[in-house]
Amino acid sequence: MCGIVGYIGQKDATPIVLNGLKRLEYRGYDSAGLAILENGQIEVRRDAGKLERLASLVQESPLHGQVGIGHTRWATHGEPNAHNAHPHLGMTGDVVLVHNGIVENYLDLKEELKEEGVVFNSETDTEVIIHLVERYLGAGRTLEEAVRAALLHLRGAHGIVVLSKDEPDKIVAARMGNAGGVVIGVGDGEMYIASDLPAILEHTRDMVFLESRQMAVVTRSGVKVSTLEGQELLHEVQTVSWDPVSAEKGEYRHFMHKEIHEQVRSLTDTIAGRVDFDHGRINLPKLNLTPELAERIERIYIVACGTAAYAGMVGKVLIERIARVPVEVDIGSEFRYRDPIVDENTVALAISQSGETADTLAALEEARQKGATLWSIVNAIGSQAMRVADGFISMQVGPEIGVASTKAYTAPLVDLYMLAVHLAELRGVINEWERKGLVADLRLVPDLAGRCLDREAEIEKVAQALVEVRSALYLGRGVNMPTAYEGALKLKEISYIHAEGYPAGEMKHGPIALIDADMPVVVVAPRDPWYEKMFSQIEQAKARGGRVIAVATEGDERIPPIADHVLWVPETPWMLSPVTTVIPLQILAYHIAALRGLDIDQPRNLAKSVTVE
Ligand code: AGP
Repeated sequence: MCGIVGYIGQKDATPIVLNGLKRLEYRGYDSAGLAILENGQIEVRRDAGKLERLASLVQESPLHGQVGIGHTRWATHGEPNAHNAHPHLGMTGDVVLVHNGIVENYLDLKEELKEEGVVFNSETDTEVIIHLVERYLGAGRTLEEAVRAALLHLRGAHGIVVLSKDEPDKIVAARMGNAGGVVIGVGDGEMYIASDLPAILEHTRDMVFLESRQMAVVTRSGVKVSTLEGQELLHEVQTVSWDPVSAEKGEYRHFMHKEIHEQVRSLTDTIAGRVDFDHGRINLPKLNLTPELAERIERIYIVACGTAAYAGMVGKVLIERIARVPVEVDIGSEFRYRDPIVDENTVALAISQSGETADTLAALEEARQKGATLWSIVNAIGSQAMRVADGFISMQVGPEIGVASTKAYTAPLVDLYMLAVHLAELRGVINEWERKGLVADLRLVPDLAGRCLDREAEIEKVAQALVEVRSALYLGRGVNMPTAYEGALKLKEISYIHAEGYPAGEMKHGPIALIDADMPVVVVAPRDPWYEKMFSQIEQAKARGGRVIAVATEGDERIPPIADHVLWVPETPWMLSPVTTVIPLQILAYHIAALRGLDIDQPRNLAKSVTVE
């Protein structure tokens, strides 16, 4: 998704904006630009390509000033080139804008503006906004009034930041719907604006998060927040705990590699403060789960996308098995269009690392409108999915920068396990002995994850054997069926090898025809209740000449003689086994992609947070 950075203060805005955009690179983009107010004029530099291109433009033709905005664009309307890159000027050159989102009614607006004599310079939908702002400035309105009036014409979700040479001591920002965040960083005599925290974390941790249909007027001395209708709002300054260092690669080549190895720490952090090991109890205060609600719940819909949806599939098994509440897992983009059966005894639980995924947020909104209670399991602090929910569990794993999600997959598995135990206790469906046993198992998780990571060198060798494959099958069953889906997604999204996760039991209904010596089959076969079924799966694949890579539990003596490669995991309580079985698959995908020399942190066509439908 697009990235936005803004600055107003006493320092030179150019390096602050450029550096902020660099910290948003992981979001995926194909053009970049910035605008600086210099000596009363708006100077713009922008072009297709990466930030290195923009930096060289700035070096060739420097621009300096104390107020500036910048943007990295992921093209939706209009190919990536200098004309379509943001920032966008209107016809007067007096105002300039950067924008996240899609103007769904831009064609009508463009026709209307052309009839007023407006000349367009780009193929973007964004450009209609700056011309609307100019229309209202021309009618004598202030910058914030003109932006407010312009936004009321727009359909769709938007994050925008505007500055004007005629009102040089302010920047106006606004948010409509869920096109990524708009966060204001509070400094001392200076203020920052960004679409995501990592862009400004090094400058301040004091943040004001804009909600949908809110506008901010940012000056050096502070920020005024109001509704789009103009009603002033009290705003809360939140101090975020993420430190800038955790948003750095350190000694790793890629963020993804670092984040895979952070999983001992991240699993510890997601458990921290939520488990009373002495009394065998789970505390999830921000979930706002009351005994009354626990009793009343009749159904939980888990709504999520991609990796988060696979975590939800594990959650279904855990919540149904432990808390005996029916759970359905819905892909965010499907839930809202199938007129789901929802009432006041339904919970919609969103899982989202970014908390800004448009399809997931839209599913939550659909559930809200039908009377559901909303929960979310989210990593990004202050994100929309965290704010709209009636209760939430923060993953607490720190920034996840690599597009391919890793620690933000294993953390929600544990969060869902804790939620299931907490819900079961309140519903009285487990006794104290069962509860204490389930809680005690949580204590093992970080160490078990560490033992998986210790085997990286062995897994790298398997990666070397698979680096040239063109397709792969991943098979799993029961609580580890989602592990197969997630393992396949990791491989395809960073190595571009076609990989398909499949329920192992379904192979005989067709896909087994695919198996031959050229089709490696990854079989997730730890010691869990489905082990025997998975063992025979391995035999079936071998009988057809398949090459089998088995995820197996340390000490297993039956699998090594029949598998071509074994990815070992430590003995793990079966309900927590998806935490350990996925780690070798993360490492395998990483090393295959690294051997193929690919852009692992920013895979082609992908973005870290998909804030468009
Ligand atoms: C996972 O590796 C992908 N980056 C993608 O499937 C991701 O999980 C999905 O877009 C959901 O993102 P979210 O967790 O931020 O909502």
